[in-house]
Amino acid sequence: MIKVGVIGSGAMGSGIAQVAATAGHTVVLYDNNSSALQKAKSSLEATLKKLVEKQKITEQKANEISDRISYDDDLKSFSSCGLIIEAIVENLELKEKLFSELENIVSDDCVLASNTSSLSITSIASACKKTNRVLGIHFFNPAPLMPLVEIIPGISTDKSIVETSRKLIDSWGKVTVLAKDTPGFIVNRVARSYYGESIRIYEEGMADFATIDWALREFGGFKMGPFELMDFIGNDINYKVTETVWEQFFYEPRFKPTFTQKRLFEAKYFGKKSGKGYYDYSEGAVKPEPQKNTELGNQIFNRVIAMLINEAIDALYLNVASKEDLDLAMTKGVNYPKGLLKWGDEIGLQNVLKTLTDLQEEYGEDRYRPSILLKKMVKENKKFFS
Ligand SMILES: NC(=O)c1ccc[n+]([C@@H]2O[C@H](COP(=O)([O-])OP(=O)(O)OC[C@H]3O[C@@H](n4cnc5c(N)ncnc54)[C@H](O)[C@@H]3O)[C@@H](O)[C@H]2O)c1
Repeated sequence: MIKVGVIGSGAMGSGIAQVAATAGHTVVLYDNNSSALQKAKSSLEATLKKLVEKQKITEQKANEISDRISYDDDLKSFSSCGLIIEAIVENLELKEKLFSELENIVSDDCVLASNTSSLSITSIASACKKTNRVLGIHFFNPAPLMPLVEIIPGISTDKSIVETSRKLIDSWGKVTVLAKDTPGFIVNRVARSYYGESIRIYEEGMADFATIDWALREFGGFKMGPFELMDFIGNDINYKVTETVWEQFFYEPRFKPTFTQKRLFEAKYFGKKSGKGYYDYSEGAVKPEPQKNTELGNQIFNRVIAMLINEAIDALYLNVASKEDLDLAMTKGVNYPKGLLKWGDEIGLQNVLKTLTDLQEEYGEDRYRPSILLKKMVKENKKFFS
């Protein structure tokens, strides 16, 4: 079994180290901040202890997992790794610098992966001499619990490296999907409208946060409404991903960030972790009641789901992923109750198209333009899945 190196011991890196060690690999976890490394060690030990208490694993297994992970502040210990997964801060310059340093340490056949959410794998790889061994292996938060992993080849990644990496991550019990190296890959691109269109609905004064959250839970079956979810993810992280995806799509209007979320970000109203976001999480705070109006709820749901389905269809049209992987990604990466293409079939693609063309006509905005593939499917009376 290859030795796995993980760089960056924050939320993602420590989760990935846990997953790899649980799968039986010897793991070395590195961070350039020694207190972050110490914190990762104590929180991993605490997690394993909790898993034993909950009888999810035996004490022996917990000890084995723990023994397999070493914590290091010297990159040289990565020389014997077969795979390295980088999970440092989302900063292209820092990632490029790290990858070029790594190349001088690792063996020729070591695979170098990035867990980036929104940066281009090709640009990270460009810092290396051997660009064909660099790819994206994108876990979701929390890595030990979320089943999805997106596998992203850069423009020059070897096919064989993509295949063996995918097989390896599958063997860790994860569900892998293959995504093209485009901004946000699958999930962080397709899910944008869940947040963006919901904020737009709020900004127009159509409904408040609690009502929009209620509508998407009630009529869509989503586990969390968009505002609850943004507060859970953190408005700092969610806003930054939105801004990056929009910029990288050459300012595509469908992905345009909102002032509502930008102001929250500026005010450090990050959500649950800061005690305040769209909702107030301070002690004794009362959660506002939604306006449970069925007609309004349906209008909200129809608008958001049409935007989401359109995005999934456009991603398929542009070969970002296969239709199966697109649907798998949304159910396994962000817990959507159904895959969006299947959902489109169920609602009726002609109905999705009508919602979008009505919105486009009403607003006169490019944001609502239907994907060419959606129009084609309706014209030919086709479904994605029979
Ligand atoms: N948090 C999420 O929900 C999530 C989900 C999927 C992917 N990601 C991606 O994973 C990566 C890490 O995210 P995170 O949330 O774990 O961040 P984090 O801030 O929790 O952890 C980052 C860690 O990297 C360390 N670090 C920074 N620069 C370093 C360097 N040059 N060398 C070594 N260590 C360095 C920091 O000390 C810190 O401990 C990012 O690329 C992010 O986009 C995040």
